[in-house]
Amino acid sequence: MILGVPKEICENETRIAVIPSTVKQFISAGFSVIIESCAGIDSQISDSDFKASGAEIVSSASDIFIKSDMILKVNSPTDQEIQMIREGSSYISFFQTMKETDKVIALQKKNVTAYSMHLIPRTTLAQKMDALSSQTNIAGYKAVLIAACHIEKYMPLLMTAAGTIPPAKVLVLGAGVAGLSAIATAKRLGAQVEASDVRPEVKEQVESLGAKFLEVESDSDDGVGEGGYAKETSEEYKKKQAELLNKRIAASDIVITTALIPGRPAPILISDEMVKSMSAGSVIMDLAAENGGNCSLTQPDQIVNIDGVIIDGTINLAGTMSVHASQLYAKNVSAFILHGYNQDKKEFNLEDEIVSGSMFTHNGEIVNDRTKNVIEGSN
Ligand code: NAI
Repeated sequence: MILGVPKEICENETRIAVIPSTVKQFISAGFSVIIESCAGIDSQISDSDFKASGAEIVSSASDIFIKSDMILKVNSPTDQEIQMIREGSSYISFFQTMKETDKVIALQKKNVTAYSMHLIPRTTLAQKMDALSSQTNIAGYKAVLIAACHIEKYMPLLMTAAGTIPPAKVLVLGAGVAGLSAIATAKRLGAQVEASDVRPEVKEQVESLGAKFLEVESDSDDGVGEGGYAKETSEEYKKKQAELLNKRIAASDIVITTALIPGRPAPILISDEMVKSMSAGSVIMDLAAENGGNCSLTQPDQIVNIDGVIIDGTINLAGTMSVHASQLYAKNVSAFILHGYNQDKKEFNLEDEIVSGSMFTHNGEIVNDRTKNVIEGSN
């Protein structure tokens, strides 16, 4: 089985799906690995590092796609890459299958067996394959560092001969993996941190990191969806949440938003009016920008300045820490392949729940039910 790694061609992508140590793991497990020349350069991995680990370096992307039995990538394929993918081969990368439906259909038509790192089940066994967590953890951390550079203020409380500087006020909306990482980082920098989430069980996690939890009073499990994820909240909840957040947003130096609902556009939690209520020099880091953003004024992948308030919608924050992002992502991918591939039978074990859970096209069919429903519903 030949694993092929083309260079990522999306703008601003610095990551790669293999690192030398995972290449070694693949080779000792009986795979061959071919990598496009310079594919690791933005993650500080040279072709000679990869050669030394046992990979073969190939100069053209099309050769990688022709020769490989399975393509390993970070981003979902571009149209050009889909054209190059060999019929009947396998493919894995991040892939928002309910959003990128044209690409799903294109892979289905090419009879590609495709897996999405987005679809890996959030189970204990699959934790080491959980690339969503490994990458959003980085995003939460880096968002705080970037925000700390945007605000022209100290983060910690400072008592000096020239006077006392109060700690920066940081508000985190959405306390999942990215949000908790942001809270922990902001606390380490000495900021005063508050956080809010629709899922009440998060309260304890937020408080254990030393932040204050802002709870929206609600009689029901409004916003609590399946499998530990959030769902769309009721209009009444949205109103109460806006009332609660109004003053907190106006008082914050930094707001970090990470609120997401699987398969849905990101909920708008910060309106135009709320942005206007913030002081000049404050900042919103919108980590939900890729899915529309949590702030009504966010521009995906742009930094805008609205009357002195900076709204940073940078999408690939993990890619700004390419060395560790690639290291963790590559380990997630290798854990998945080494878990799912049966070396004796020379095939993926499709009975395995992690393999079947993350597979979305196989044998010319769309095999992920939620993706299939979205595609059939739109026809
Ligand atoms: P996510 O990226 O889907 O959402 C981020 C956060 O936004 C969530 O905490 C969500 O509740 C919150 N949110 C959504 N709508 C909101 C709204 N209107 N207002 C305020 N907050 C809102 O979530 P993520 O980070 O992927 O984690 C989802 C769940 O998966 C969590 O329970 C997490 O603990 C769990 N998880 C489990 C793992 C495992 O067992 N292996 C690994 C990683 C996460």
